[in-house]
Amino acid sequence: MSEILEMLIRRGFLWQSFEIYGGMAGFIDYGPLGNGLRRRLENLWREFFVVNERAVEIDTPTVGIEEVYIASGHATSFTDVAIECKKCGKVYRADHYIKEVLGLEVDESVEAIRDILSEFDLKCDCGGEFGEPAQFNLMFETRIGPGKGKRGYLRPETAQGIFIAFKRLADYFRDKLPFGVAQIGRSYRNEISPRQGVIRLREFNQAELEYFINPRNKRHPEFDRYRNVKVKLVDKSDAEYEIALGDAVEKGIILHEVIAYFIAKTREFLLKAGIDENRLRFRQHKDDERAHYASDCWDAEVYTAYGWIEVVGIADRGCYDLSRHAKFSGEDMSIFVPFKEPVKVKKKVIIPNMSKLGPIFRHKAKKVAEALKSMEAEESIVVEVDGEKIEVPPECYTIEEVEEIQHGEKIVPHVIEPSFGLDRITYAILEHSFDTDIVDGEERKVLRLKRWIAPVQVAVLPLLSRDPFTEKAKEITELLKKRGIFTEYDDSGSIGRRYRRYDEIGTPFCITVDHQTFDDNSVTIRDRDTTSQVRIGLGELVDVLLELLNSEKDIREFGEVFRD
Ligand code: GAP
Repeated sequence: MSEILEMLIRRGFLWQSFEIYGGMAGFIDYGPLGNGLRRRLENLWREFFVVNERAVEIDTPTVGIEEVYIASGHATSFTDVAIECKKCGKVYRADHYIKEVLGLEVDESVEAIRDILSEFDLKCDCGGEFGEPAQFNLMFETRIGPGKGKRGYLRPETAQGIFIAFKRLADYFRDKLPFGVAQIGRSYRNEISPRQGVIRLREFNQAELEYFINPRNKRHPEFDRYRNVKVKLVDKSDAEYEIALGDAVEKGIILHEVIAYFIAKTREFLLKAGIDENRLRFRQHKDDERAHYASDCWDAEVYTAYGWIEVVGIADRGCYDLSRHAKFSGEDMSIFVPFKEPVKVKKKVIIPNMSKLGPIFRHKAKKVAEALKSMEAEESIVVEVDGEKIEVPPECYTIEEVEEIQHGEKIVPHVIEPSFGLDRITYAILEHSFDTDIVDGEERKVLRLKRWIAPVQVAVLPLLSRDPFTEKAKEITELLKKRGIFTEYDDSGSIGRRYRRYDEIGTPFCITVDHQTFDDNSVTIRDRDTTSQVRIGLGELVDVLLELLNSEKDIREFGEVFRD
């Protein structure tokens, strides 16, 4: 890991934020290459989860008003247990510290942590005793406006911006389920003691899709595409399977098709982005591990130098979020779903008796009658009028059974949410792509990034750093950039050193302008992975490169190899 991190920092992928002031755990800067890679990853995600789904992308504020997070449950439930050393004042996330020191998995409750502290007489690194464990809310609190202002929070997930705009979004989709709404952006969590470098951040990038479905239909129209795809699963009882997704649904290992569909799609995306299939698995959350909003959750986990890390969470959030926002805001978050055929239903309705209601409720009688008419018949009838709950005596109404034709029903959609951590995926891609081999008798460091994700896709190198080589190479650089290829020009150092530099940052192809360029208008293309080179006429260069960059074709298909 240290070799990779050293390279990532030295080559400008990423580094610690606020470095000149000593840095701060949980924050990283993306340098030019890391930023390029993450942006490319974002675009690939968009292609998979927006363009090729019935989905749209929106962009909502990263600061949220307090009401949102009271309704969502984050204000009360988005907590971890912290323990503070009485001697040195260091604060730890309790479950992580216990896992690290004792190797034990522990329930994330204050009581469970307290028991472990006393049972094992657990001490701080400095030997000091810990104080009482306490719940710590992970949201960053802020004030909106001057003075006392209004309490707000930095969003801990992008999802809430989507839920609270649900009515507008349903309108956009003309109330037709299923539909997806995506958001890519920053999220913030005031992690207690983020000691895992680039993995646990306090400000990070998420790409989330909220996929709204009819709860009566948890099938996915496209699932057949993936029915036979085999995946590695670990279920909540730690049983491991290598199983086709269709079978996993049939056997009840995965609850329904929509979750299975997104497991398949997530796998496809991660492999396309450059995650190694042998270091990828999907693990179901245990009952005591799930977030407060989830009824089921599968994590995509990848193996890295940090061990297995969660990079994506695929959760069934049910109608939790929409129902909570409906309750707290007073807005109706349901949508009307028409039946295929109208159906006749028998219904008990309440018929108010005004001659009885009038003397009892006087000026409120009309409102009570209206409230009665809008209710379903129940044992005891309590109506709400002007905020007051009123029990209506049975002599004030009669209950009649009527037959009604219904054309549809109002439902609160359920949400299936694939939620991606782009920073962790970026890091895992870098780690899985990192390789060393021997070239010309020397060890070479090479990042075998997928061609479509590489931050620099092509480097144009004049063989000699003087005209006319440099002039021609700059001309080619401009040409490639204009065609949308991420291209760099480089004339510093020997050609061999330059090849090594671009191998190390994962550039798939180097173009070299050499003596022959001026004889027959051709250049060489060098392939990073094989180091093979072929000659290509300048007239066809752009087309060849575009084809190569969008496929895994071998450069040998495009010309005769003159150097292996
Ligand atoms: N909306 C659901 C949600 O936020 P999550 O499992 O808490 O679910 C989703 O987060 C993904 O975001 C995770 O799988 C992980 O990749 C990433 N993530 C979460 N916390 C993170 C942190 N502190 N630093 C970096 N990435 C994080």
